[in-house]
Amino acid sequence: MLEKFSNWKDGFGKKKDASEELELVSIPKHVAIIMDGNGRWAKKKGLPRIAGHREGMKVINKIVRKANELGIETLTLYAFSTENWKRPKAEVDFLMRLPELFLGKELPVLMEENVKVRLMGSKENLPPHTLRAVETAITKTNENTGLILNFALNYGGRTEIIQAVQTMAKQVQEGLITYDQIDETLMADNLMTNQLPDPDLLIRTSGEIRLSNFMLWQLAYSEFWFTEVLWPDFTEIHFEEAIREYQHRGRRYGGV
Ligand code: FPP
Repeated sequence: MLEKFSNWKDGFGKKKDASEELELVSIPKHVAIIMDGNGRWAKKKGLPRIAGHREGMKVINKIVRKANELGIETLTLYAFSTENWKRPKAEVDFLMRLPELFLGKELPVLMEENVKVRLMGSKENLPPHTLRAVETAITKTNENTGLILNFALNYGGRTEIIQAVQTMAKQVQEGLITYDQIDETLMADNLMTNQLPDPDLLIRTSGEIRLSNFMLWQLAYSEFWFTEVLWPDFTEIHFEEAIREYQHRGRRYGGV
């Protein structure tokens, strides 16, 4: 069992030749990342947790640039979950400042790189300054045609599914659809990822091997890649390593 498990968690420490070229023909269209380990990174350095988040934020532009360069179409980043409100107020307040800090500095670069910003999550409860920063970025980048940078902010997978079910139930009740018209396509249309393809690849940093309520519907057939690297230490090299690993896996979608 142990051996099987260690084979399965292939991303861990298994060194690949970093110089091995990526095959640009089988680049995943949509990559989703659970950026984990900021707190532990800070603790290891004797710094407050927010220092880890600040450092984690700095990694984002490097990965966005690399994703764009590789021709990835969508990059979804789990920036704040519906469960993260349980953290100490000072930490939540800081996390809610990050979109402003990031977009204040990086928006011109995102424009230059033709990146289109999107938000996935509930706008309810977001402080006005956070929402304003994200909505400004969404408006300004709306016509861009390059990489879609999808921020999962105040996002929870179960809530997303419940909301979709409620919307469809209401449509049935109002006679707009019949119950048997509810299928995978209609469900997907009602999720917050509406119009986006499902992620081909999920990356989670920091050695945690769980989904933490992230994109529960959309990750049904995705490849998972886990690494012990803490998010603030994550580099373009690790990102390429994940994609290389993805390219070596066969996706069968339940077939043979
Ligand atoms: C998880 O690490 C990380 C988060 C909850 C926040 C992630 C946010 C960023 C990396 C920056 C977001 C930036 C923008 C622009 C929105 P953790 O704190 O749970 O780490 P730990 O498990 O080591 O404590």
